[in-house]
Amino acid sequence: MEVGRLINSSPERYLASMTAIRAAYGHGQMNRRADYYHTFGAMVPDSVLCEPGTDLRVLGIGSGSGDVDSVILKKLLQRHDRVYNRVVEPSGELLEQYKTRMREDTSLGAVKCDWRQQTAEEYFQTKGDTKFHLIHAVHVLYHVDDFHATLRNMWGHLADGGCMLVAQKSGKDAGGRLYYKLWDEFGQGDRLKTSLRTSVDVEQWFDAAGIEYVTSGDGHGWNIDISECFHEESEAGMKILDFLTQTPYVCSNRPEIRSMALEHMRSNSSLVDGKRFYKAESEVMVALKKGE
Ligand SMILES: C[S@@+](CC[C@H](N)C(=O)[O-])C[C@H]1O[C@@H](n2cnc3c(N)ncnc32)[C@H](O)[C@@H]1O
Repeated sequence: MEVGRLINSSPERYLASMTAIRAAYGHGQMNRRADYYHTFGAMVPDSVLCEPGTDLRVLGIGSGSGDVDSVILKKLLQRHDRVYNRVVEPSGELLEQYKTRMREDTSLGAVKCDWRQQTAEEYFQTKGDTKFHLIHAVHVLYHVDDFHATLRNMWGHLADGGCMLVAQKSGKDAGGRLYYKLWDEFGQGDRLKTSLRTSVDVEQWFDAAGIEYVTSGDGHGWNIDISECFHEESEAGMKILDFLTQTPYVCSNRPEIRSMALEHMRSNSSLVDGKRFYKAESEVMVALKKGE
């Protein structure tokens, strides 16, 4: 039952697994983080426009501590005097970090933030007719209850001429293919009710809705050191495996999933100096809403 439902079945295990996988991103890659964030600025089109005399309005869904948002906002401030930034983020702790960033970074002084400590589902239930010129969801749509409804709501809140940007784990890399394999062999029901959602699912939604979009990689395949996963007793290895399968306690609860995942990972990774590396990629989809 719990295949692909790590965050719902066990939020504590999800956090522990995320910490483990971050550590497995390896030395020498952390200093590429700034470059990674900057690629999002480059993906915001220069053509994001607002009505003369009004602030540019941005809606961030699941913005976390604002690492990506701040880069996007700085890009927008190159062409707009003022930005109104509504932030929808359920974690109070991350919102506090975001607020601190906004206080400390003087280059963001022309941004007026409107903080909403809510999930996307809660936010979209509230009535309001504000339309936004840019709406983004960067690595968030794994967590929302209803994947399609969230995409539909985001599009519905976009002003004509506005831009929607979604980043999601690639469905074409080894990790994305593992999601599909996992679901084919062990899943029950609708995969989109789990966190096993990829860039291909986002593209299919755009296609079905008849919305034109462009997809590009975020320019940064990350090498994950998965060596520990092959050591049965390794605590870190077990957590990494839980994250890669989005399934809690996969080693003890689902040994058959562990075997399948390890076999897939072995044949889709490379050995460097005795360590095994697995490449993780994500894709960014950008769609412009044409005016009537
Ligand atoms: C992987 S982080 C991405 C944060 C940020 N967008 C970034 O790229 O740095 C996922 C974020 O989604 C948030 N989140 C989880 N469930 C959510 C939901 N139902 N609605 C909106 N955000 C959610 C989490 O609190 C977290 O900040």
